[in-house]
Amino acid sequence: MVKLSQDEKKALIDLANEARRRAYVPYSNYPVGAALRTKSGRIFTGVNVENASYPQTMCAERVAIFKAVSEGELEFEVIAVVTNNGGSPCGGCRQVMAEFGLDTVVLFGNGKGELVKESTVNELLPEAFTPKHLVVDK
Ligand code: THU
Repeated sequence: MVKLSQDEKKALIDLANEARRRAYVPYSNYPVGAALRTKSGRIFTGVNVENASYPQTMCAERVAIFKAVSEGELEFEVIAVVTNNGGSPCGGCRQVMAEFGLDTVVLFGNGKGELVKESTVNELLPEAFTPKHLVVDK
């Protein structure tokens, strides 16, 4: 698991909080921002993008992860997630995080830009179903 300084954590929370302003949330009015840092040091942000057909909404974390993967990045160190109230990543996003590694650090931030909780994917999704479960012994 990556060791992060307070400055590094704060920088990611700030980026996620800034991205949050671009959240498209006409239905929930609950903007979420994410900032994902890859092992190669690139940073991808994401916001939640809602839809008039509600289930088509996409969470901020997954937008950030899919942006990274679509740019060829598959190894992540840390993802910061910022909501007004320090809310927790949903189960679907935890599963998508788990696909790319259980050691990824997850930082929770609030609307004031404060770090309210720090965890890992492994802690957030114990007993995760991961790619290794699809490898069948012959
Ligand atoms: N949302 C996220 O973006 N990430 C999460 O982990 C939890 C929920 C979004 C989806 C929807 O646009 C709004 O928050 C309210 O559920």
